[in-house]
Amino acid sequence: MCGIFSYFGPSDKAAEIVLKGLKKLEYRGYDSWGIAAKSASGDIKIEKHVGKISEVISLNSEMMMPSHLALGHSRWATHGGVTQYNAHPHSTENQDIIVVHNGIFENYLELKQSLIEKGHQFRSETDSEVFAHLIEENIKLGLEKAFKMACDMVTGRYAILAMSKYENKIIAARRGSPLIIGKAQDGAHFIASDVPAFLEYTKDVMYLDDNQMVVISDEGANFFDLASEKQIEKRVISIDWKEEMADKGDYQHFMMKEIMEQKETITKAINLDTEKIMEVAKKIKGAYGTYFVGCGTAGKVAMVGEYLFSEIAKKHVNVKFGSEFKSAKNFLTDRSLVIAISQSGETADTLEALEMAKSKGATIVSIVNVETSTMARYSDIVLPLKAGPEKAVASTKATTSQIAILTLLAYAVADKLDEGRQMLIAIEGQINDMLNPRYEERINSLSEEIKDSKDIVIIGRGANFPIALEAAIKLQEVSYIHAEGFAGGELKHGPIALISEGTPCIVLVSNDESKQEILSNAMEVKSRGGFIVGISPENAEVFDIWIKVPDAGFASPIVNIIPIQILAYKLALARQNNPDMPRNLAKSVTVK
Ligand code: F6R
Repeated sequence: MCGIFSYFGPSDKAAEIVLKGLKKLEYRGYDSWGIAAKSASGDIKIEKHVGKISEVISLNSEMMMPSHLALGHSRWATHGGVTQYNAHPHSTENQDIIVVHNGIFENYLELKQSLIEKGHQFRSETDSEVFAHLIEENIKLGLEKAFKMACDMVTGRYAILAMSKYENKIIAARRGSPLIIGKAQDGAHFIASDVPAFLEYTKDVMYLDDNQMVVISDEGANFFDLASEKQIEKRVISIDWKEEMADKGDYQHFMMKEIMEQKETITKAINLDTEKIMEVAKKIKGAYGTYFVGCGTAGKVAMVGEYLFSEIAKKHVNVKFGSEFKSAKNFLTDRSLVIAISQSGETADTLEALEMAKSKGATIVSIVNVETSTMARYSDIVLPLKAGPEKAVASTKATTSQIAILTLLAYAVADKLDEGRQMLIAIEGQINDMLNPRYEERINSLSEEIKDSKDIVIIGRGANFPIALEAAIKLQEVSYIHAEGFAGGELKHGPIALISEGTPCIVLVSNDESKQEILSNAMEVKSRGGFIVGISPENAEVFDIWIKVPDAGFASPIVNIIPIQILAYKLALARQNNPDMPRNLAKSVTVK
């Protein structure tokens, strides 16, 4: 949440470089943005606005002054409404200290009160602005020292960057929110919330870890431990992402590009390193309690995992949402195994769950897309999705890769990894066939038919139940239609009261023991006026519309979610929403 980007280097177009970099981070927050740049004479200029940075063609003329040092921010509001004042960067009254911040300073109200008593004047309602004033309190000791002292005073999870009028440097620190330092051949240094922002300049990165600070100056990048102030040596790591992976290519939106990429990404998941899968399978067999943890879509994937483990591996696993993981604390020991599921690897609630698990001595595995993420670096074993950057807020390709990896793991625990792989390989080709223009057109007509609905209900049984929950997330977040997923059998215990004449009810069907029961549930809805959309390998009388999916056995959760992803996208377009940047949301939820 919130994109941070800074440049310090030989180019005198620092502000424009930051503008370009921030545009690549817009998926992290898009309600407002701002940039501060420093001229050779020490003047600092700030430009900030409400609105999307992708719509900005150029900066104000005064921002175009020659500048070698600039920082910027693309915001997802936490404290304070979406206004120009609340947009970052924030500064002291005379604009001599500038900060950008991602995360939350939990104790900002008390800090703000004591700063006001000392005569500081605040212009925004944000928690972030206090940091500039805290630095000002001790600026006579130099920016570095004052910055560190400010870090000692704030609590919470955050990433923070600062610069001042008086010194030619940018300082950054992190506690819980990501910051990555890029180092280019020409001596330029970048600090960003995510790697794609500076990929066109360099693939050489250094990671800032929690409770560390980096000072970027003419001397290069120097890293320090925040507590001891001791200098730390950092390794430069070369990453293998290609710049074009993070671009839309010929697609209008990232969401559709990423849905289509599932033709390749599922294959990549299937080809995950056998040794690693077997290593994790062994850990699961030996663990005294295995926990799957994730948030949002990843949390629903964790629930799918529970069904797959029960059916394929005959093994009980626990499933927790990151924000609810605390209820596991009394059961975690050094024999527990916690498997985190995440696209970004930066989700605050999941990370906090892992921190708690680690404090109890548990082994940590992550099934994660961003291999450079905090979660990946925090884990004992990483099972990477290798799906490439996922930039649309709504997760699509990461979801199916995560399910594919959990399927492989379940087969591996059952000592049948090859059988699992063969089963998934068999559906790969069928997924390719699904992702064609005719299929898309059929779902497009469905979206036209239901685009004005007030509610959409999705039902499934077994592993299709969490897929119904995930379908609801997909539809809600980009179409803004009220959508809810239910276990088919639960409907008559209350939710069926929601059904009225014409309410669309999407029924997820697989050719398994629950087939007849879910079709009966669909009939119950139809009898009350529901409009039944069947996602199923075979047509059924109860369906008003049938969307065919391959008969995929244990891979049904993968094939059943794909038409819903396309439907959500088409509904977003039909309702004139931007599917890549849905309102109120941001990719990578780095606050609790
Ligand atoms: C919904 C969606 C979110 C994420 C959730 C966890 O489409 O993408 O619900 O699944 O915020 O994010 P990660 O997977 O990055 O931990």
